Amino acid sequence: MAAQIVPLPPFDCVVFGATGDLTLRKLMPALYYRCRDGQIPPQARIIAAARSDYTDEGYRAHIRETVRPHVGRDDWDEAVARGFLDRLRYVRLDASRPQGWETLVALLDEQPGRVRVFYMATSPDLYGPVCRNIRENGLASDAARVVLEKPIGYDLASARTINEQVGSIFAEAQIFRIDHYLGKETVQNLMALRFANSIFERLWNADVIDHVQITVAETVGVEGRAGYYDRSGALRDMVQNHLLQLLCLLAMESPISLEADAVRDEKLKVLRALKPITRQEIGHVGVRGQYVPGAVEGKAVPSYAADLGAQSRTETFVAIKAEVRSWRWSGVPFYLRTGKRLTEKVSEVVVQFRAVPFSLFPPEVADLQPNKLIIRLQPHEGIHLGMMTKDPGPGGLRLRPARLDISFEQAFKTRYPDSYERLLMDAVRGNPTLFMRRDEVEAAWGWVEPIIEAWAESAEPPKPYPAGSWGPTASIALIERDGRTWHEDYGGEEYG
Ligand code: BG6
Repeated sequence: MAAQIVPLPPFDCVVFGATGDLTLRKLMPALYYRCRDGQIPPQARIIAAARSDYTDEGYRAHIRETVRPHVGRDDWDEAVARGFLDRLRYVRLDASRPQGWETLVALLDEQPGRVRVFYMATSPDLYGPVCRNIRENGLASDAARVVLEKPIGYDLASARTINEQVGSIFAEAQIFRIDHYLGKETVQNLMALRFANSIFERLWNADVIDHVQITVAETVGVEGRAGYYDRSGALRDMVQNHLLQLLCLLAMESPISLEADAVRDEKLKVLRALKPITRQEIGHVGVRGQYVPGAVEGKAVPSYAADLGAQSRTETFVAIKAEVRSWRWSGVPFYLRTGKRLTEKVSEVVVQFRAVPFSLFPPEVADLQPNKLIIRLQPHEGIHLGMMTKDPGPGGLRLRPARLDISFEQAFKTRYPDSYERLLMDAVRGNPTLFMRRDEVEAAWGWVEPIIEAWAESAEPPKPYPAGSWGPTASIALIERDGRTWHEDYGGEEYG
């Protein structure tokens, strides 16, 4: 079943940071796929801007080589690739300086009325200066939009500075702050699950739900990004944005419509309702860890310090017990967990319902497991409902867990587009629903900042955990203290 494609009018997309990792690994493959699916018209131009010295042809050859490994073998088509590369132009430019913009200006002036998307695939401290230079060079037209990659800042103060700088040049409606998790199909599906089905929403509260777990586990280490990562750490890199956005979509009230601001208003309320975590509490409700040597997927891997080439107190793992102060969620913890070099790559939400109030079945007949709704975001996207059922056959009544499954791969037999495909096209269309509003970003920083500060001041370093494990044992203790356990049944055995 093919997804519906909305073709777009011709546009210009300028990518700053066009030789960087994000452009090569994510943006260009996404644009290739959108060309392949006929969404990007032949007259559209993708203008790559960076400091390196490339000709158009040289840059196209570079992109052909780097994009190809990121495109499925069956999805690569020579004619499509030629068409995609023909849309590319290269401009040599140091965008942080006001001078030297003539070539870009001349190129964009050829099509003055077009939608212009300026994509900042650069370090966040350049967002303000580059936007200023866009304006100084007369390019900030009404049809311009600017896309800011996460992280927006390093803390609340720097996020505010960036938002002020960019906001003094572009209106909020022109600013698209990316959290690529919002572009994932299964993340958008959370809205469908909750608000297009009556069965779950009626149960979606503290009367019925015991707790929620959000796990985003990765097997990769810091790859080529040690410099960035060491300044950031898992809390800033993953929790402040991706995990909190997931929490918002799970915990928010029904928006009054699908209008971007209606949805973002509800997410913002959740962020504002998060119970602040104080310095005194963090030791009880938060764990940070750092990987030491181990084996991931059967391969020996070194420690974080060896990957970095220096000792560091940056966390590569975080587990936090969060609470939303509202009638709906009172007493329902949201356990968040993310880390590098863990056992498996998996992003999953587990909504665990309360246990039955009284068991009719003696323990030798049934080890009753509470129901769990498992929403698998990646890989093997799907939804599973863990239930108790009768063990089939004669010879007495015995119960065992089983699960109701929807595997989206099998049900829809379609390719899951990368989130950047959707987000790039939404920015061109001017649809901000899947982007973060300024107040959301700042509210999220407001909640994580005291945790960052408490950890920065703590004499205790992050707890070591072997690469290839599920993180420090303290994270197991964190949830077990509450009489609960992390869901780690990724093979699906627990529920049949
Ligand atoms: C990015 C982080 O935002 O998300 C990375 O900076 C992380 O450190 C990545 O690896 C995870 O994204 P995904 O889509 O692979 O789950």
